Amino acid sequence: MNMETNVSDTNLRCTQSTEIRRRNRIILFPLPFQGHINPMLQLANILHTQGFKITIIHTEYNSPNHSNYPHFTFKSISDRFFEIESQLATKVDADPAYFVKYLNRSCVEPFRECLGGLLAEYGEGSIACLITDAVFCFTQAVADSVKLPRMVIRTSSPACILAWGALPFSSQNGYFNLTKQDSNYEESVPEYPVMKFKDVSKMTTNPESMRNLVTDMLSHMKASSGLIWNTFKELEEPALETIRQEFSVPNFALGPFHKYFSASSSSLIEQDITVLSWLDTQAPKSVIYISFGSIAHISESEFQEVAHGLANTGFPFLWVVRPGVVPGSKWVESLPEKFLERVGDRGRIVKWAPQQDVLAHPATGCFWSHCGWNSTLESICEGVPMICSPSFGDQPLNARYVSDVWKIGVLLEDGFDRVGIQMVLQRVMVDKEGEEMRERIISLKEKVNLSLDEGGSSQKSLKGLVDYILSF
Ligand code: UDX
Repeated sequence: MNMETNVSDTNLRCTQSTEIRRRNRIILFPLPFQGHINPMLQLANILHTQGFKITIIHTEYNSPNHSNYPHFTFKSISDRFFEIESQLATKVDADPAYFVKYLNRSCVEPFRECLGGLLAEYGEGSIACLITDAVFCFTQAVADSVKLPRMVIRTSSPACILAWGALPFSSQNGYFNLTKQDSNYEESVPEYPVMKFKDVSKMTTNPESMRNLVTDMLSHMKASSGLIWNTFKELEEPALETIRQEFSVPNFALGPFHKYFSASSSSLIEQDITVLSWLDTQAPKSVIYISFGSIAHISESEFQEVAHGLANTGFPFLWVVRPGVVPGSKWVESLPEKFLERVGDRGRIVKWAPQQDVLAHPATGCFWSHCGWNSTLESICEGVPMICSPSFGDQPLNARYVSDVWKIGVLLEDGFDRVGIQMVLQRVMVDKEGEEMRERIISLKEKVNLSLDEGGSSQKSLKGLVDYILSF
């Protein structure tokens, strides 16, 4: 009996190890926006170093540059995004869910066809799992229909999922579209007290649309085979713990991903690397780096207030003005008169920067950011204190964590106003308060490094993820 068991055990082990060797391909499907593409391709690289073969299904819109990834296989699918692309210049801050929902409809058939083709090409037993962006909800049903495990990468913070899950997205309840005149504007929101009503109000101008997306995303995350987070345990332990309790699927927090692989190879815009030699000429911790990410917009008057605020202080600055950041503008034509003469060599303006290198440069003194999740993590990893000007979506929450929870930056509470900007720059760059923020963010930077060391929390999570994928 024992013998029989041993023989069959051995056979089983042989079959399993052959299966394991055969099931070594992972198919990934990123949402086609910079802040989502970067972490997905970084994750793909991480999994490739763990011995997996990688196939990326991607939309035609914002296609990644294949030549930067000769070790991956790419399959492009039609998305019909051109039908609504022009609205990105005006609508995205107001209702980001609109674009995500559109893609969740337009990609269904092309994705199903592509995945079916890959299953036929590789053979069913060779694909371990599918990993998609959490907001690509439709992929769960497609994966189920071909019996392929689907894991999810959520590119924002775990806290964001908890906050969105708790908030009552409705235009009827007085939570959204508040103004300074509303009595509860400065108050904490009972459902998620880290946030104030004024933060929630910024998240979306279409709460019903956001509610549908959030409900859909949460239910499909719960139906998935597991969740992958671009964060590290020491930064967000309480949120990760709550998620573990509320989502009964395995969770893996193995970030920050860009510490394994930089974002430069997945950049959709060419990064102007000449800024690095300019930074070399600046004093340590003297430069303000300003960037509002890949999709947030600011109005022309806000743009001018930023310019006045920078001109009125003596700090050197590196300002990323993404073409179109001011809707309708080509680039910097809205700068105030004589701005460039006033600031001279003290300021550099570029269309897109090698952000991670800029943050890692010794001359960079603070990061004035929209607080996209990637930017927030990148700043933490380099120990650079932040000034927060969140625009929409998860950014107001990230900004609140930066300013009120981790205390590693200052939120420009009342928007863009040159006097307020000067005061905040002074607080972060000169005052003792700024020095304390720097100490706290450097301490977080050290925790990041520990989490990525052998035996650290992110390394353990990565090992756990690899074992889990091999168990499918
Ligand atoms: C979006 C949302 O805004 C963000 O809140 C969400 O968490 C992810 O999707 P985005 O606005 O682009 O992302 O911001 P962010 O998450 O910060 O990602 C921007 C990426 O572009 C970062 O990896 C950053 O390094 C890179 N970048 C930015 C550059 O390479 N160069 C630049 O000049 C600016």
